[in-house]
Amino acid sequence: MAEENQNLRTPIVCVMGHVDHGKTTLLDQIRGTAIVKGEAGAITQHIGATEVPIDVIVEKCGDKRLADKFIVPGLLFIDTPGHHAFTTLRSRGGSLADLAVVVVDINEGFKPQTIESLNILKRFKTPFIVVTNKIDRILGWQVHKGESFLSTYKKQTPEVQALFEQKFYDVIGHLYEQGFSADRFDRVTDFQKTLGVIPISGLTGEGIPDVLMILLGLAQRFLESSLQYDINGPGVGTVLEVKEEKGLGTTIDVILYDGTLKKGDTVVIGRLGEPIVTKVRALLKPRELSEIRYESKFQPIPEAAAAAGVKISAPDIDDALAGAPIISATPETLDAVIEKVKSEI
Ligand code: GTP
Ligand code: MG
Repeated sequence: MAEENQNLRTPIVCVMGHVDHGKTTLLDQIRGTAIVKGEAGAITQHIGATEVPIDVIVEKCGDKRLADKFIVPGLLFIDTPGHHAFTTLRSRGGSLADLAVVVVDINEGFKPQTIESLNILKRFKTPFIVVTNKIDRILGWQVHKGESFLSTYKKQTPEVQALFEQKFYDVIGHLYEQGFSADRFDRVTDFQKTLGVIPISGLTGEGIPDVLMILLGLAQRFLESSLQYDINGPGVGTVLEVKEEKGLGTTIDVILYDGTLKKGDTVVIGRLGEPIVTKVRALLKPRELSEIRYESKFQPIPEAAAAAGVKISAPDIDDALAGAPIISATPETLDAVIEKVKSEI
């Protein structure tokens, strides 16, 4: 990796879309695990975070020469639930994201939570791409595992290609109705003006190299200034979940999106009423590529730099509020930080 990436933090990528359209499966494919098989009814109930290091992404893209081209340390993916009851979780994910991926089942097309996801991203002005998932389910589709979209597309029969085009342009039409100028990703020249749409299969990995390439490209081109951060600055994050953990007591899962958080730091955490002021007793991280919700063997770490998903153990955090800010403070900044946290509840 190039030297200049030192102060670029990991972009946070939120995966959103309608229930069962394949968000978790897409992330499984990227990280090469099978979280989806362990979920009750394969429904994602909570926001999770997975860090995918740049080397793994470059390998999935299938071209090692890319390693020197990219200056972000990796991508931090946030999975969100598609079930209609979880609007708050989707909003929380959307508000945290630097980039987003909206997953649409190409065979089902637009659904209520597809539109809701687009509206959340519009509201937060988050740059995003759309993936039309489950192309392998198109009648007659010949699977070419892990290949780029264009490579597998060229190998389909004219009939299958025609069927694909019909379904694909139906989605493009719906995007127009929602006010987006959209086109297939390989025809987009300016991703700021035109929304890129990538046909994929989360199950077979077709189109996944394109997704990773485009996400990295977008991060480098459009986010470079917003990804600059002061690694020595105070840790700033959002509480995802408050959880009882065996042997640790109450813990909070946090997405850290700025600065560095250290063991022993004084932190201010939002709750109803006066914010909590406490000290970080332990900072825990799941191993790379493992999912924060499913990894029981947490590794204690002395500090974490943004962006990262971390678990924090600290006294008096039982009534910390999911969705609330957490910010580290020094004796000099404490009063100001308390006011800031209060103003964001
Ligand atoms: P929620 O978290 O409940 O919103 O669903 P989700 O969007 O995470 O969907 P999930 O990944 O759990 O997939 C739902 C079902 O679709 C599962 O049975 C997957 O195996 C299947 N599925 C997902 N992606 C694909 C795909 O590309 N092709 C095929 N054939 N099946 C897929
Ligand atoms: Mg899911």
